[in-house]
Amino acid sequence: MQIEIFEDEQAVAQTAANLLANQLATKPNSVLLLPTGRTPLLMYAHMVELVQQKQLDLTNAKTFNLDEFYGIGPEHPGSYRQYMERVLFVPAAMPTANTVMLNGAATDSVRECADYEAAIKAAGGVDVAVLGIGANGHIGFNEPGSPFDSRTRQVRIQPETRAANAFLFNNKLEEVPETALTVGIATILEARKILLLATGESKAAAIAALINGPITEGLPASSLQKHPNVSLLLDKNAAAQLNTNEIVTTEVERLAHSL
Ligand code: PGA
Repeated sequence: MQIEIFEDEQAVAQTAANLLANQLATKPNSVLLLPTGRTPLLMYAHMVELVQQKQLDLTNAKTFNLDEFYGIGPEHPGSYRQYMERVLFVPAAMPTANTVMLNGAATDSVRECADYEAAIKAAGGVDVAVLGIGANGHIGFNEPGSPFDSRTRQVRIQPETRAANAFLFNNKLEEVPETALTVGIATILEARKILLLATGESKAAAIAALINGPITEGLPASSLQKHPNVSLLLDKNAAAQLNTNEIVTTEVERLAHSL
C-alpha cells in the first residue's frame, strides 16, 4: 500500500487529478469507478481545469460510479447522477453513453445490480477505482458488516452516513433515502488500481484502522489491505493518527509514486 501525506486537501485533489490525467494519457479508453461525497469535489474541479487546459481528455473514458441512492430517480437534484452531471460529466463534456450509473428508480433492484456488474465486466473491468472513506470505514455504501465477497446490491444506509449526505438534500435528513444501490467490496477489489482519498480529522481513526488494524468486515476499508495496488492520498489531518515511521516510509514511496 502506498501512503502519501499532503499539506492540505488541495494538494490531495491535485495529485489525484494528475494521476488520473496520466492514466488517461496512457490509456484513453480507461474504465474508471468514481466516488461522490464532499471529499472528491476538489478533485473533480481540478479534473475540469485539466480538461479546459487540454491536459486531460475524458471523451473516450468510460466511467461507472460506486453507488446511487435508491428510491429517487436520476433527475432528482439529490441523486448522485445529478451530482456527477454538475461536477464532472457536463463541464468535462463527457458523452452520456460513457457515464454509467446505477438507476435509483429501477423497480427491479436485483436486476439493476446484476446488469451493472455485467456492464463493468463487458467494459473490460475497472482500471482505476477512486474511493472516499466514511468515518465508520465504509467504502461506497458498503457499511460495516458488509461481506468482503459482496457484489452490487441494495443496502441500508447507516444513520451517520445519511447525515453526512444531508447536504445534497438541503440539509433535510428526512429526505435522504434509507437505502442505496452500491457496488460490492468484491467488485471494488477487482479494480486493477485503487486510489483512496481522505481529508480532515474526522477520517483519521478510520485511516489508522485501515492501515494498522486487522482485516475485518467491521471496517470495510480494511479489505484494501488485500489488494496489491492501492494508493492512499491523505491530507495531514486524515493522517493524524499514523506514526512517524509510516510517514518516513511514505516520503520514500512518494518519490517512486506513479499509477
Ligand atoms: P465524504 O464521504 O467525502 O462526504 O466524507 C466519503 C464517503 O462516505 O465515502
